[in-house]
Amino acid sequence: MRVAHAVNIADLRRLARRRLPKVVFDYIDGGADDEVTLRENCRIFDDVTFRPRNAVATPGCDLRTSVLGTMLELPMLLAPVGSSRLFYPRGEVAAARAAGTAGTAYTLSTLSGCRLEDVKAATAGPAWYQLYLVGGQAVATAGIERARAAGFSVLVLTIDTAVAGNRERDMRNGTRELVSRNAFTMLPFLSQFVVRPRWVAGLLGDGGMMRFPNVLLPGQGPMLYAEVGAALEQAAVSWRDIGWIRGVWKGPLVVKGVLTADDARRAVDEGAAGVVVSNHGGRQLDGVSATLRALPEVVAAVNGRADVLVDGGIRRGGDIVKALCLGARAVLIGRAYAYGLAAGGEAGVTRAIDILCADVTRTLKLLGCASIADLDRSYVEVPPAWHA
Ligand code: FNR
Repeated sequence: MRVAHAVNIADLRRLARRRLPKVVFDYIDGGADDEVTLRENCRIFDDVTFRPRNAVATPGCDLRTSVLGTMLELPMLLAPVGSSRLFYPRGEVAAARAAGTAGTAYTLSTLSGCRLEDVKAATAGPAWYQLYLVGGQAVATAGIERARAAGFSVLVLTIDTAVAGNRERDMRNGTRELVSRNAFTMLPFLSQFVVRPRWVAGLLGDGGMMRFPNVLLPGQGPMLYAEVGAALEQAAVSWRDIGWIRGVWKGPLVVKGVLTADDARRAVDEGAAGVVVSNHGGRQLDGVSATLRALPEVVAAVNGRADVLVDGGIRRGGDIVKALCLGARAVLIGRAYAYGLAAGGEAGVTRAIDILCADVTRTLKLLGCASIADLDRSYVEVPPAWHA
């Protein structure tokens, strides 16, 4: 099967699995500890059911939404997915281009393999920059200034990564050894590589194992892959950091990784123009609530003072519609496009976006709703416990 023939995100996931060595596929696919939150993020959408208005003609459907004052053609943005260059040659550039062509925004992770200037230049749409404080305040400041100079319009501060989550698939697979750039430590992966020649050829043609060109360490240059774990541990964000970050970044700030009313209010009080209800796709603290479940609490706490976005578990357009009905202005997709990228580069990301858009349009028509701006809680039923 080729990406053009994928009918849903699960098909793209299968294609990604076929093209990637296990160590890379598991890095995308996996979550923390027992992966309870990873699974729950997806499953919770089943708890919310639709209440269609039948016999309503909706010849055209308007999918546009405005996020932080910018009009997007679709109610979904691409989430920051670190190391995308490992999935496909120049992965971040490919994904950003696909997002821009579709009329939506791409969020570039600090921990990316392509230069942020190249990513911005590749997309016709808005580009957001996601910040980790790896390397310390001076290194992060330089990254923010580069992002501003390159034309990134929104800064996304991720607050749920005090340490890297306990991703046991990565530990078993020896992901750190893979990325250490030492030929000998890579020997155990040979058996995975020989059966994935297309991926190996792509990696070699793309310059070999990536570094992090947006994290420039003084006297050392781009941070090495092997240094990420330790760097993240020293880069925990606290609310106090927002003060100096806002001193450097004058544009809109979005806080990503909010799961409670308290954190949502704090983020808005600190000046965030938007919050992302997110548990990092179940990759950080396992056992936190699914994001769709946390969304109504955050929407109520924010009370219109900022845009509320949500990510986690979105694999179908119906999931997107449910999140919008529960008050999200738009959603971010992570793995849904990462599988597409890994399966077929820009074409794979475009296929993922097209699949989800077609789903959203069909769902709106079946709901009898002409525009995503008209979606509200009356189109869904939530479990009684959610009303408590
Ligand atoms: C992520 N995510 C993430 N978030 C972030 O703020 N910075 C990052 O560098 C990354 N890196 C990353 C890598 C991979 C492989 C994945 C799957 C995810 C989290 C991401 O932005 C988003 O919150 C989740 O992916 C949303 O969940 P779904 O859509 O993947 O279920």
